Amino acid sequence: MNFYGGRRGRVLLSCALGLAIVACAGSSEEAPAQTREPARTRQSQVVLFGTASADAGERLYGSKCAFCHVGRNTGAIMLGRRLGKDMAELHTRTDLDADYVKAVVRSGIVNMPPISRVDVTDEELGKIAEYLTRTKKK
Ligand code: HEC
Repeated sequence: MNFYGGRRGRVLLSCALGLAIVACAGSSEEAPAQTREPARTRQSQVVLFGTASADAGERLYGSKCAFCHVGRNTGAIMLGRRLGKDMAELHTRTDLDADYVKAVVRSGIVNMPPISRVDVTDEELGKIAEYLTRTKKK
């Protein structure tokens, strides 16, 4: 009686140990590496964004805003996370309002610092806002 009881006890113990080890191994496993999305635009294209454009607004957007707002850069990444992938890059959006764009640029928004008239004049900002709202849906 004792012998069988003891044996069963050992079997149960080793089962419990086995389970514990499996559970520990499971919990210490690293999360699978996140699959990275391919960049929408290559960095070389971000640098050259708008340079060949006939539209002054697009050229200005390229030199003043694109390094954050085009490709896998801070503005595009954050807006993509907050609002969805199709909202990530400003120049492909159809929902932007010119006054909103100007207000955001002068005041900043969350992680975007304000940009002063020294860096972007009112005239330049007007052209950028015009460019970003060229496809605005009424
Ligand atoms: C230093 C990087 C940086 C620069 C330069 C920059 N932005 Fe931003 N911008 C951001 C970030 C980051 C956000 C997102 C803020 C957040 O939600 O965290 C943003 C958000 C915006 C938004 C808000 C979009 C929305 O859906 O609410 C507008 C509009 C905008 N930027 C316009 C511009 C324009 C126009 C320029 C150029 C004159 C510019 N930004 C330059 C980083 C930048």
